[in-house]
Amino acid sequence: MLQHLNDIPPIDLPPILQRYTYTTYAFLIYFLVTVWRRFFQRPPPPPPPPPHSRSQRSPSPPPPPPPPPHHHRPIRPLHLFLVTCTLLLDSICVHTYPVLSSGAIVITGASSGIGRAACISLAKDFKQYQIYAGVRSDKDAESIRNERITNLIPIHLDVTNPQQIQAAVETIVDSQQPLVALVNNAGVAIHDAPIELVDLKRWRFLYDVNVFGLVQTTQHFLPLLRLHQGRVINIGSIAGDISQPMWSPYASSKHAVEAITDSLRVEMRQFGISVSLIKPGEIKTNLYNAMQGNKEHHGGTDTDEWNIEQAYANSMKRCRPTTTTETRELYSEGLKNSLEFIHHCAITTDNGEVPSVVMTNHAITHAITSPTPRTRYVFGGGAAVWPANLILPDKITDVLHHWLFNLDGWKVFHQQWGKPLFKILNAVFYW
Ligand SMILES: NC(=O)c1ccc[n+]([C@@H]2O[C@H](COP(=O)([O-])OP(=O)(O)OC[C@H]3O[C@@H](n4cnc5c(N)ncnc54)[C@H](OP(=O)(O)O)[C@@H]3O)[C@@H](O)[C@H]2O)c1
Repeated sequence: MLQHLNDIPPIDLPPILQRYTYTTYAFLIYFLVTVWRRFFQRPPPPPPPPPHSRSQRSPSPPPPPPPPPHHHRPIRPLHLFLVTCTLLLDSICVHTYPVLSSGAIVITGASSGIGRAACISLAKDFKQYQIYAGVRSDKDAESIRNERITNLIPIHLDVTNPQQIQAAVETIVDSQQPLVALVNNAGVAIHDAPIELVDLKRWRFLYDVNVFGLVQTTQHFLPLLRLHQGRVINIGSIAGDISQPMWSPYASSKHAVEAITDSLRVEMRQFGISVSLIKPGEIKTNLYNAMQGNKEHHGGTDTDEWNIEQAYANSMKRCRPTTTTETRELYSEGLKNSLEFIHHCAITTDNGEVPSVVMTNHAITHAITSPTPRTRYVFGGGAAVWPANLILPDKITDVLHHWLFNLDGWKVFHQQWGKPLFKILNAVFYW
């Protein structure tokens, strides 16, 4: 049942057209232009008759013959050249990967949010795959078992713990199944303060999970992936391109994931291992509760009693201890705006304003099961900002980000007139 706009699956090309991506696009554009010219473009008006004068009695020249209809025109060399170029681009650049019909899929960070939803949806939709859900506690393992899905198996997998990663690798080896995919989803987000105030201990901890955890897990699983041309799917973020104020630890870790994925993709090309990066904008999960510093973020949060002053005071407690009160005060307004934004994302209902995990499920499934997986999947409201961020000069995006996050411009899209527009952007933008 489709409940929200963003539950609509992304439009995807049939496999044969995916193989000829650029050619398909070229033909599509050519077809649209032809249709437009044939049906909507009016013929140019006839030239005005020459002025009638007595001195010029000679008969007027015959009118020029009408241009031939479009379907009678010869193929132009330019068209042939463009089609040849796109066919060449396709055959050189679009890689097709084998789709393994059975085997194991390992997903890290599966206790909640994106990871858990992906495990459940893959296990239900693809009975031929055994889904190994990486969790860190017995309680979470039990909760995965309670889903009562036969091909969904919890494993203990802390991505900062090499012994646990090795044990997970051995579990897959013992199961004697090919490894279809590793989904590097485990991640944390700390959102505390501007760079001047962040405690480096917390920043290092975040890198240990989001960056080195991802690298370490991939390193351990690559030999298994290479055996059967499995796939790596990294969960990045729109923050891998857009680094907003007060988010530098998280955004910089996702920038690193972006770079690591780009290098890995080319390194793995020779082995036939596909590497995809999934870059959601905001998605409705526990991440925002965790960012507010709620340790126990699996339901039962105290978000209803949330109060901005208390949240600000908590943030200050987690700051670099040596900073003075005067320095902290300099950032108070921007930080409070930012905390309000996080809180809003944490409490907002799953109504399309902050998209649901259905979107990430689609992207992860496509990256695992398509013969031509995308290198990047970008979606959600933030995806609308993504091309603008790539194209616009920094000085313009700086003003935009300052307005959005230091001067609470985000409220326009989350609480005021921009809300319906933002919901549509969330549903439609899937690059
Ligand atoms: N939600 C969004 O808006 C959004 C947007 C873009 C990208 N992302 C990315 O999506 C991924 C999943 O986040 P989410 O939104 O689903 O948040 P979430 O519900 O908080 O899930 C994070 C998961 O990571 C796990 N984790 C944390 N530290 C770990 C470690 N050392 N080893 C193994 N697992 C660990 C957590 O397990 P515990 O329960 O044991 O802590 C949890 O299962 C993250 O990489 C995040 O950066 C999220």
